[in-house]
Amino acid sequence: MEKKTILIQLDPDAHASVFDRVVAIDSKVNELFSYANVQPDQVRDLVHGAIFTRGPKDLKNTALFIGGGNVEKSEALLVKAVAAMVPEFGLRVSVLFDANGCNTTAAAAVRIAAKTLDLKDKKALILAGTGPVGQRAAMLLAKLGAKVLLSSRTIEKSKSAVVSLGKKMGDSPALSAIQVANDSELKIALEGVELVVSAGAAGVCLLPEKIRKACGNLKMVIDLNAVPPLGIEGTSVMDKGVIRDGVVCYGAIGVGDLKMKIHRAAIEALFTRNDQVMDAPEVYEIALNF
Ligand SMILES: NC(=O)c1ccc[n+]([C@@H]2O[C@H](COP(=O)([O-])OP(=O)(O)OC[C@H]3O[C@@H](n4cnc5c(N)ncnc54)[C@H](OP(=O)(O)O)[C@@H]3O)[C@@H](O)[C@H]2O)c1
Repeated sequence: MEKKTILIQLDPDAHASVFDRVVAIDSKVNELFSYANVQPDQVRDLVHGAIFTRGPKDLKNTALFIGGGNVEKSEALLVKAVAAMVPEFGLRVSVLFDANGCNTTAAAAVRIAAKTLDLKDKKALILAGTGPVGQRAAMLLAKLGAKVLLSSRTIEKSKSAVVSLGKKMGDSPALSAIQVANDSELKIALEGVELVVSAGAAGVCLLPEKIRKACGNLKMVIDLNAVPPLGIEGTSVMDKGVIRDGVVCYGAIGVGDLKMKIHRAAIEALFTRNDQVMDAPEVYEIALNF
């Protein structure tokens, strides 16, 4: 008889994310084990509890979800979780990493962009792309052939993000660092850009309306910030393909519907095999179904 599906949620925060728990239930998981305040040195024993109970052929019905509000802390849990598996004996379970929604949000934004624009060799600017969502969106856009500019208020921070992404991608990605600390630097960064993804912290406006309207090449903007003031002035958080001044606009809630679909589909996909580690590229593969 097919075993029940069990999702084991590892979260470094004081309370395991309610958001992630609701999505797990909506993704038809039979049993959800939620662990909060998880420290890296506790992960091995939690994973061993998952892999040493069911036989290899049933392990596809057990999976891990790594979430949490601090992406760096959650990344440390992911490293430990992968290291604790015993793949040589088939003793492993699939893992989905989506701390702070970074992978599902980036995948949704890039999928929407790819369905709207031909991205090959086109210039895309990720405003404040140094955060977890922006870096993942930059990586996915570069993989699709776009020429990606990743901005930060300091060139050191954007260069550091580009170097770290280059190491992860393993080839020579079409990624460049740029500093945007004032309006004149913003205007330079926008030259020839067709797609802007605004990935800055909540409540920070990064693209003033006047500058946006003066961008001759701009075809599409995606703002991931849902907290006023919005990242892209003069758009709406609800925008979902709304044309403003000849530019296709998406706001954070406009992206959110696809993000939720991807999140649920990724959880369902966990239970098809026991050998998956789903980070940004793997979550983007799921996004291709929408
Ligand atoms: N729709 C959804 O479901 C969903 C899910 C997850 C996230 N989000 C949203 O997506 C956006 C990106 O998320 P994230 O977690 O990657 O963002 P984050 O790490 O909080 O911030 C991204 C970047 O914003 C810049 N920044 C921070 N404070 C700033 C300030 N006061 N002024 C100007 N720039 C500032 C920083 O870049 P520099 O220091 O390099 O300039 C930072 O690296 C956020 O708005 C978040 O709320 C939406």
